Amino acid sequence: MSTPVPRLGESAGLRFTSLPPLSLYVHLPWCVRKCPYCDFNSYEARGELPDLQYVDALLRDLRGELPFAQDREIETIFLGGGTPSLFSGAAIRRLLDGLRAEAALAADVEITLEANPGAVDAERFAAFRAAGVNRLSIGIQSFRDAQLRALGRVHDSAEAEAAVATARAAGFTNFNLDLMYALPGDDAAGAVADLERAIALAPAHISWYQLTLEPNTAFERRPPALPEDDLVARIEEQGRALLAAHGYERYEISAYAQAGRRCRHNSNYWQFADYLGIGAGAHGKVTLPTAGEIARRAKTRNPRTYLQRAGSAEATSEERVTRPGQAALEFLMNALRLIDGTTVETFEARTGQAASGLEPGRTAAVARGWLSAKPGRLRATPAGIEKLNRVLELFA
Ligand SMILES: C[S@@+](CC[C@H](N)C(=O)[O-])C[C@H]1O[C@@H](n2cnc3c(N)ncnc32)[C@H](O)[C@@H]1O
Ligand code: SF4
Repeated sequence: MSTPVPRLGESAGLRFTSLPPLSLYVHLPWCVRKCPYCDFNSYEARGELPDLQYVDALLRDLRGELPFAQDREIETIFLGGGTPSLFSGAAIRRLLDGLRAEAALAADVEITLEANPGAVDAERFAAFRAAGVNRLSIGIQSFRDAQLRALGRVHDSAEAEAAVATARAAGFTNFNLDLMYALPGDDAAGAVADLERAIALAPAHISWYQLTLEPNTAFERRPPALPEDDLVARIEEQGRALLAAHGYERYEISAYAQAGRRCRHNSNYWQFADYLGIGAGAHGKVTLPTAGEIARRAKTRNPRTYLQRAGSAEATSEERVTRPGQAALEFLMNALRLIDGTTVETFEARTGQAASGLEPGRTAAVARGWLSAKPGRLRATPAGIEKLNRVLELFA
């Protein structure tokens, strides 16, 4: 007889029969200057960056996290920020050599590094590549100088283009460009022109984000005039058509990729897989089959405090997800962002519960036309993707 799996809402813990794939997120918190729209845990770098010292702190932090790997290989690594491209080639080498020495990395590990066009240098990019970075994510935002100024960026459009040329010259063929739309003073022609310039550079991947006003940012305190909803809808319609026409498939709300070039790291998040998080303010999520729980671990946010305390218990806080309802909601918050959604089996494996517990939320969402009725799949319809928060409320 098989073990009964608890239904959603019961507090019998989570029953996992397997562990999901494992990723590693590494947070590097410094930037040349803080952008007025940004709520990431990032800080203006003053004076010389303590990059080598920070790498030592990261490796201490890693040692504390490795038991949570539970004998899995790390399949993807993401060096995010902040502006990781401010770190020296020697620091990134020390970090990746340290990771290889301490942890088991998959033979085809994807290693992404985030770069800002205002912090790019040919020698350093070559050193990142030689150290093992095999994917770059470049924060272009816009190719229009007026928009870049309005966003408080440290680079202009010529430097944005030059960053891509530098990446190519250093041997990177797999790179993403971040662009934002619905910017101050934006119109459809300008937003589409940004995409055209990006496409002309033939990146493997484009992340196309709507600018949002985030709490505790300069833009929240003094909001710029942003486009109205109907203009935003027109920008999206034209932009998505252009991306599709050039072979960039939309596979998540804001992510577009050439065939075979999806970001494996972010796909792992959206599939509710596991990840270790190291660095100031980094978050991790790990499945614990024996406890029947999911651990959410977070590191102290302040870089100076982190430098002193990394690897100690005081630098880490932990919460446990024990209720099936909470695990189910967290899963759906991620997986329904994917244009193709996910399978019922993935839901059951990653949340440790039977998918039958998703009723009646699922029936209600299907009736409203927000979820596909196809058996075996959990997929938001285009209408559902547009109002994901309302879809999720049906499962809360
Ligand atoms: C950590 S940053 C990327 C790397 C680097 N720090 C940079 O800005 O060039 C990640 C990306 O999130 C996007 N982003 C940040 N804040 C945003 C906001 N308020 N609204 C929409 N997208 C945002 C930007 O496209 C940015 O490139
Ligand atoms: S450079 Fe990137 S991480 Fe740094 S403040 Fe600007 S958007 Fe945020």
